[in-house]
Amino acid sequence: MKKLEKLYEGKAKIIYATEDPELVVQYFKDDATAFNGEKKGIIRNKGEMNNAISSAIFRFLEDKGIKTHFVSAPSEREMVVRKVDIVPIEVVMRNVTAGSLSKRMGVEEGMLLPKTVFELYYKDDSLGDPMINGYHVAAFGLCSAEDLAEIKKRAFRVNELMQEFFSARGITLVDFKLEFGKTADGTLLLADEITPDGCRLWNSETGEKMDKDRFRRDLGSVEEAYEEVLRKVTS
Ligand code: TMP
Repeated sequence: MKKLEKLYEGKAKIIYATEDPELVVQYFKDDATAFNGEKKGIIRNKGEMNNAISSAIFRFLEDKGIKTHFVSAPSEREMVVRKVDIVPIEVVMRNVTAGSLSKRMGVEEGMLLPKTVFELYYKDDSLGDPMINGYHVAAFGLCSAEDLAEIKKRAFRVNELMQEFFSARGITLVDFKLEFGKTADGTLLLADEITPDGCRLWNSETGEKMDKDRFRRDLGSVEEAYEEVLRKVTS
């Protein structure tokens, strides 16, 4: 599908218009950032790997009845998706303690949580994506109460499905971030991407990190980790 004008450029992707007003192209870059853009780098071939990983996961979720913005992946770095207005909320689902949860609660990483933790963040880079709750969503009109209820329901279902998907591939789904969007006709869709940039994925046997924490924490073998996730996700 032909890319027309650039509509938006984010840290890891560029969105282009297409001839179809209902579709856009997500172009996956190799750029990697962490700590709200403070740390910048390149993960070689990340664009291609993340497009393939996210496409495989969106296809799996669609097969299981989750409505996503995914349409097709016509080239290595391009994903055709339904055009949506992104709801300015980042949903984080956590199954195992890590990252900011470990910091906030003063616990070590790697503890299995007895209940999944559902968190909301206000998607605003200039503010560093602060944590919010449903009252902030309502008071600041980030989305309707109905949409928030639906987002929560779907996030828990996606978590269940993705835990099964990754566990069958020898990977523990520690936590991940989701974004949702609404089409012009008001349909709520799972959007953005599902990749090692926004998921913590640990080798179930060795505990080895296979996600962007390798870049954030300078652990080395970043490309190799993404390649391994790609191999497992597409096998
Ligand atoms: P956190 O522990 O830093 O809050 O991250 C939780 C999960 O969300 C982790 O899998 C990485 C993902 N994430 C993003 O995708 N974007 C972000 O801006 C942040 C802070 C986290």
